[in-house]
This record gives sequence, C-alpha cells and structure tokens, in this order.
Amino acid sequence: MRPVEIKDGIFWLGAVDWNRRDFHGYSKAHKGTTYNNFLIVDEKVTLIDTVDERFWGTLQCNIAQVLGDRKIDYVVANHLEPDHSGCLPKVVEKYRPEKIFTSPMGQKAMKAHFKYTDWPVEVVPTGTNIEIGKRTLSFLETRMLHWPDSMLTYCPQDKIVFTNDAFGQNWATSERWADEVNRTRLEELMANYYANIVLPYSPVVLKTLATIKEMALDIEIICPDHGLLFRGEDCAWAMETYQAYAEQKPKNKAVIVYDTMWHSTEKMAEAVASGLADEGVSVRLMCMKNNHHSDVMAEVFDAAAVIVGSPTHNNGILPLMADMLTYMKGLRPQNKIGSAVGSFGWSGECTKILTKWLEDMNMEVVEPIKNQYVPDHEVLGKCYEQGKAIAAAIKAKL
Ligand SMILES: Cc1cc2nc3c(=O)[nH]c(=O)nc-3n(C[C@H](O)[C@H](O)[C@H](O)COP(=O)(O)O)c2cc1C
Ligand SMILES: [Fe+2]
Ligand SMILES: [Fe+2]
Repeated sequence: MRPVEIKDGIFWLGAVDWNRRDFHGYSKAHKGTTYNNFLIVDEKVTLIDTVDERFWGTLQCNIAQVLGDRKIDYVVANHLEPDHSGCLPKVVEKYRPEKIFTSPMGQKAMKAHFKYTDWPVEVVPTGTNIEIGKRTLSFLETRMLHWPDSMLTYCPQDKIVFTNDAFGQNWATSERWADEVNRTRLEELMANYYANIVLPYSPVVLKTLATIKEMALDIEIICPDHGLLFRGEDCAWAMETYQAYAEQKPKNKAVIVYDTMWHSTEKMAEAVASGLADEGVSVRLMCMKNNHHSDVMAEVFDAAAVIVGSPTHNNGILPLMADMLTYMKGLRPQNKIGSAVGSFGWSGECTKILTKWLEDMNMEVVEPIKNQYVPDHEVLGKCYEQGKAIAAAIKAKL
C-alpha cells in the first residue's frame, strides 16, 4: 500500500501483512495485520516507529515516496517489540538520524535488543517536549502497556496521538480509517487484540485514560500501530471502548471450554450449557480441539462465567486444557465466576485440578461436578442444574 497523508504533512506509511495468521507466535490473526508507522514532514523530518523487519523493502519504498532525497532527522521509538522496532537498525544505518527518542525503559530495551554503541539515543521521560519545527511532540510513558518501554507520542498542534499497540486491531485492510470499515467486525477484532495482548495491563489502561483526561489532551486522531486509525468522534468511541474493556464489567455471558477423549465430559458440558441458556445467559461452548486459545480468550474476557471441563488423564487433565488454563491465567481475567466438570475412570483428579486453576485466578467458584465414566440421565440433570446455579450467580453479579 502507498503512503497516505492523514493530516497535512503527516503520513501513514506502514506495511500490510495480508496473509499473516500467526501473531507473535502465540495468537491468531484471522484477518492478517498491519504494522503502522508514521512520517511527519516538518523542519525536522520525524519517523514514528518502524515495521517488522521483513518489510524493510516496503518501508524504504514508502519513505522515498514521501521524502524523495530529503533525509530523516529524528526517529521516535514508542515500543521496542520487533514488530515496531525490527527495522530500527537498518533505519539508523541508512538514514543516519540526528536523534532517536525513546522512553527510559526503551533505552534499556534498545540496548538489550540491538547492542548498539554509537546510536544518538535521547531519553524522553513523561512530560518531555521536543520541537520539530512548527510542531511539538510530547511523550507519555505507558509502562507495561504492554511492555516496560511503551510510550505515547502526542502532537498538540495536530491533535494527534500515536499510541503504539494501544487501540490496535489485527486487520489487514486497504482502508486506513475506522469509519471506512464494518464497525461490528472492527469491534470484534479490537476486543480480540485487547483480550490477548492488553488484558493483563488493564489497570495501566485505566490510569493512562485518566491521565489523558487530567491533561485535557485534545485528540482528533488516534494512530495505533496495528489496524485502522480513528478520527473525529471515533476517538471518543475508541477511548470509551477501552475504558469498558479495562473495567472488565461482566456481561450476561458464559464460556464453557473443555476437551474430551470419549465425549463424556462433552455431554456434561452440553448439559451445563442448556441450564445456562434456559436462564437466558448467552453461552459459548468451545472444545479445545476446534478452537485456538486466543479465540477462546476473546470470548472469555467479557463473559461473567467460565466453566472448564476435562476428563482425568494420567492423573491430570488433558494437555489442551492445561494449555488453555496456563494461557488464561497469564492474561489475568478479573471478576469471573468459575466452575468445572469432568469425567474420570478410577482416580478422578480432574475437577480438583481444574478448580485449583479457577481459584488461582480468583474466580468465585460454583461447586464442580465429576462423574465416573459415562454420565447418565441423572448426572446430566445435575449438570443442567449446575448451569442454572451458575446463571443465578451471574444474575447476582450483573
Ligand atoms: C490414556 C488415558 C489415561 C487415563 N488416565 C486416567 C487417570 O489417571 N485417572 C482416571 O481417573 N481416569 C483416567 N482415564 C479414564 C478417563 O478419565 C475416562 O475414560 C473418562 O470417562 C473419559 O472422559 P471423556 O469421555 O470426557 O474423555 C484415562 C483414560 C485414558 C484413555
Ligand atoms: Fe507490542
Ligand atoms: Fe505490536
């Protein structure tokens, strides 16, 4: 895609990774992704972030289309993860910028990643302003949103904020603005990104949004480093959406995630689903054999209840459930009701192990159900009642 002038003298460069499906080695990007970066043409030509190093050719081509032979004076590194800093060494080598601005933690990460000795790095802690001509750039550290080095760059003259991964979505498109695409899909992909990347850092999101309010930053354009950009009224929409995500208020929704060898646990899971649905709860029944853990998390993150199911397998639980629970716990979902079901043959550790995971995630646990071998009508009836009990717990929480 060719560069797009998003405001007078400010260009989206970026690379569209149309066919990427694996995102960062652990989550799915079903619609591809983009690595957005930006070029501000002022007295000091400033490049904000770079792209994944596989797109070095694209980046050079985009820069040349905007600048011709003019040089890059400044580089801002808002985040040191390789999808945004991957081309930084090549940019430094080819364009020889006068200065590279990064956060205090960014400097440490830059050293650890690139082992540079002679780069012109200048640390810009929160509150630092630099003049680049008729524009000022101000920096706001957003430690652990979602790396220690993460920061935002704001330009008051253009009312534009470069937010790096915050507000990102994995979506490869030819459109650049959120108001040009289907809103439902955008919301879905923004939620998926949040659930899998930003969720554990929700307290930092709340703090950052509060700081933006306190500072009364006037924002007319939000530029994340993945996916679509927001302008006009969409800026308030994006911030309200992030506020709601970060508050993690549960919805009238339950996710049942399970694995099964001979379908006994599955039958129990289905009975729980019926009990929940009959009480008006919106249910997602997800077997780990058919769903990637990142897609399960996208459903879990706004659900009020999570019910986990596994048979006992070699005195433990099935490996795909161990995967799911390890992944889920790391993302620190809050305010959830949890419960468990499982079938077993002889030793029957499954529900005890599952419950321990739920407790470790501070979930409010509804009594689990385990059953020896194949569940009969009576056991399935109990599972149905368990679904109803979970529904009552959800109602009490909403
Ligand atoms: C390879 C294998 C290992 C198992 N290990 C145990 C075990 O350690 N303890 C136990 O109680 N049951 C064990 N079982 C029995 C299962 O838990 C039992 O068959 C259960 O009903 C399967 O539920 P499912 O239909 O949901 O897969 C094992 C079964 C298999 C096939
Ligand atoms: Fe990142
Ligand atoms: Fe990123």
